[in-house]
Amino acid sequence: MKVTVVGAGNVGATCANVIAHKELANEVVLLDIKEGVAEGKALDIWQTAPINLYDSRIKGSTNDYAKTAGSDVVVITSGLPRKPGMSRDDLIATNAGIVKGVTENIMKYSPGTVIIIVSNPLDVMTYCAYLTAKTDPARVFGMAGILDTARYRAFLAEALNCSPKDIQAVLMGGHGDTMVPLPRYTTVAGIPVTELIEKDHLDAIVDRTKKGGGEIVNLLGTSAWYAPGAAAAQMVEAVLRDQKRIYPCCAWLQGEYGLKNIYLGVPVKLGKKGIEKVIELKLNSEESGLLNASAKAVKEVCDVLDKMKIS
Ligand code: NAI
Ligand code: 2OP
Repeated sequence: MKVTVVGAGNVGATCANVIAHKELANEVVLLDIKEGVAEGKALDIWQTAPINLYDSRIKGSTNDYAKTAGSDVVVITSGLPRKPGMSRDDLIATNAGIVKGVTENIMKYSPGTVIIIVSNPLDVMTYCAYLTAKTDPARVFGMAGILDTARYRAFLAEALNCSPKDIQAVLMGGHGDTMVPLPRYTTVAGIPVTELIEKDHLDAIVDRTKKGGGEIVNLLGTSAWYAPGAAAAQMVEAVLRDQKRIYPCCAWLQGEYGLKNIYLGVPVKLGKKGIEKVIELKLNSEESGLLNASAKAVKEVCDVLDKMKIS
């Protein structure tokens, strides 16, 4: 198996490190446009192999896409990260140009690949990659929900002083302030979370989750990378190992939830064909109202992208 990670910055290098460490692929290519950066980071990661005891071979490349040929999965993390005061949408024009160019190169050398987008604004960049790749939308999707639910689950584990392993949660919508965490579908070892935490406290955790990316941007001056890198690697694992895992992913909707021709976060089954099924929950009117509002916000930015005629 071969995986390429485009963008050897904070998220890309972390993701490649997790993929190699977990031996998800025998070959991992890390590619960046900045001279020497991908080669340097790949060499550093490769030198952890004798310590961490794995044999996935990781190689770096400065913009040479021939080295990515035949990739089974490609993770695209190239693009600018958020700075304090910036919204994810502020990144649209720059990152759309980058994502389009990268996707064209990837498709030239790996036409049958599965593409996982990480670059922001996530839902719109996934749409941009889909328009560019001109492939089955089941093979082009985005990472956000695993990260956002991980934040939610971590906050809940802290509040309940329990293991994060026992917290299961679903979250839908766009990767931004309009995301829709679903307390009604959140359990702690099968126990509804609403039986364990007071409503006010739960509301505060939901609110903190929605602002979870911004909280880290304000602390670090740039966006997060450990959890995003691990989340993207988990999606790579589900595809390469055909795990049929149920994860919240940014997927192309064709009528599900009453939404059409839009990429949005929904629970899906993830396996070797990519998005193998979109799972439709029976949302109540408040939940579907929030999902529709989130879809509207994402659609507005997609319209901006369409008007830019980048893809
Ligand atoms: P970073 O600045 O550390 O790394 C980005 C890398 O992309 C840089 O090394 C840069 O040289 C490279 N790059 C730029 N243009 C390129 C091109 N045309 N070809 C190849 N490489 C190119 O940024 P970081 O923190 O790794 O974030 C990457 C992206 O992921 C950002 O857009 C960020 O907003 C997004 N992100 C998304 C998350 C999500 O949940 N979907 C979570 C965290 C970050
Ligand atoms: C995050 O959620 C900024 O999208 C980035 O950390």
